[in-house]
Amino acid sequence: MLNLDLQKRVALVTGASGGLGQAIATTLAAAGARVAVHYGKDAQGAARVVESIRQQGGEAQAFAADVADVAAVRELVAAVEQRFGSLDILVNNAGMDGPHQLVGADDDPKAWEKVLAVDLLGPYYAARAAIPIMERQKRGVIVNITSVHEFIPWEGYSAYASAKAGLSMFTKTLAQETADRGIRVVAVAPGAIQTPINASVWGNPDTLKDLDEKIAMGRLGKPEEVAQVVAFLASDLASYITGTTLAVDGGMLIYPDFRHGG
Ligand code: BGC
Repeated sequence: MLNLDLQKRVALVTGASGGLGQAIATTLAAAGARVAVHYGKDAQGAARVVESIRQQGGEAQAFAADVADVAAVRELVAAVEQRFGSLDILVNNAGMDGPHQLVGADDDPKAWEKVLAVDLLGPYYAARAAIPIMERQKRGVIVNITSVHEFIPWEGYSAYASAKAGLSMFTKTLAQETADRGIRVVAVAPGAIQTPINASVWGNPDTLKDLDEKIAMGRLGKPEEVAQVVAFLASDLASYITGTTLAVDGGMLIYPDFRHGG
């Protein structure tokens, strides 16, 4: 039987107090991994995730850190290694869309910089701290959560789209740098998944209809549908995959608008 086994693996999932990260943390734990549940501000959410993993018989602990702070991220990774004895899987999931703003019109450079810091610098900081550990172990997987917006431009969210496209290229370059050291680096590009990040869109029937029309399968994804793919990529079932992005988007990237006409 095909076995997606993450026993004896230690995983750190950033931004795991809710949304996609919560599903990723609980799914990795269900596959046998011991999980460090990172959070930025939502200590209660992280505690709930840890509790639900423990109730399933898994092992987890919450860790707080600002992912945009290089020293804080270094300490986070060191604390995870100290607590669990290794770090085999790093999921760079923490991210933010940022505010809708048009460049040169109503944009605030500070807001742009913040999105870049969380969505691009954060994964870089975590990867640079994790790689020496993975190198020593001769084993490790880094999964960067990008977005369909690593491919699709998004009006009003230029910082987000730029950060995600950057994270995609970081994934490939890092994979190239580390492939001969037993480390795989992959990206997962979710489409519209029903989480708090886009609640204002799916919470309104008109904007939900507009969004559904952008998805070939005609519906939003569930967090679990992304989490299961992350678990697969983190496992030995994906032992020959590195330096590439897997889209989990219900067909957003196949231009459903082109079903007719053209
Ligand atoms: C964003 C969501 C958005 C989706 C599709 C994601 O990367 O975080 O807010 O709904 O892309 O546009």
